Amino acid sequence: MLESFEKFLNEYNYGPKGKVLDAVKYSVLNPGKRIRPMILLTILNDYQIDYKKGFSPALAIEMIHNYSLIHDDLPAMDNDDYRRGKLSTHKVYGEDIAILAGDALLTMAFNVISNDKCLDSDIKVKLISLLSKHAGIEGMIYGQQLDLTFEGKNIDITKIDEINIYKTSNLIIFSMLAAAIIANKEEDLIALEVLATKLGLAFQIQDDIFDVTKSFEEIGKKPSDQVNDKSTYVKVLGLEKSSQVLDDLFIDCYKIIKNLSLKNHGLKNLVQDIQNRIN
Ligand code: IPE
Ligand code: IPE
Ligand code: MG
Ligand code: MG
Ligand code: MG
Repeated sequence: MLESFEKFLNEYNYGPKGKVLDAVKYSVLNPGKRIRPMILLTILNDYQIDYKKGFSPALAIEMIHNYSLIHDDLPAMDNDDYRRGKLSTHKVYGEDIAILAGDALLTMAFNVISNDKCLDSDIKVKLISLLSKHAGIEGMIYGQQLDLTFEGKNIDITKIDEINIYKTSNLIIFSMLAAAIIANKEEDLIALEVLATKLGLAFQIQDDIFDVTKSFEEIGKKPSDQVNDKSTYVKVLGLEKSSQVLDDLFIDCYKIIKNLSLKNHGLKNLVQDIQNRIN
């Protein structure tokens, strides 16, 4: 599944030659873990729907994710020089081209879905609406705003959860709900949203733990949360308590998955892979 999606992503026509195209490809084709597309495709497969039907929304969410990372690394945001073991996009192409590459990916994501050949028009409209909600000013962008606003501030765990749900859970919520919409499983939407919210929280806590515990060789990025004085679980609760919260979140995730009407165990296995991830 990952291999054929990776082929689709590699063969996609990202646009006319130029520096922006080079920067877009530098970002997207440098393989990340692809967890957001894999969640979408895996749930489709668990519903016994041909997962290839989800390739366009899966690529769209990976584009939005990569745009968010390009902008997240800019000096005006987290000021990170490395991503996936290589120089950040702005370090190679300059800030101007990196900003445009992010803009291009954001715009392109909606084009990918609207031009898809196998999804019905009503489904495509629902997916586009869902993507704009979860990526935009009431979704991931709002989370990034909170993340920056609360640098250097003392805030409680409820507020940190809010940051993490907005900035990280939202794209995962899109992946899960998109699969249910394509599979016509509207009855699972609420449970999947709760699951994605918890998985996103867990994913961000892992990322924050890795920021202080893992080497550049392991995660391909350099620690920056302490320098930026980010409000994270690790900062407020410390490593040990953060790991306990993480364990509890994964227990909740497995409970929710058990109650879904899925025919295969792909999602459960994928969540286990995420729980055991090393980068
Ligand atoms: C990094 O996301 C940003 C967070 C939300 C923590 P990933 O860890 O999914 O990044 P890649 O795509 O695998 O590099
Ligand atoms: C990033 O969180 C979340 C988004 C890009 C939306 P981080 O800032 O912690 O991600 P990394 O550590 O740079 O990958
Ligand atoms: Mg950030
Ligand atoms: Mg960052
Ligand atoms: Mg981080």
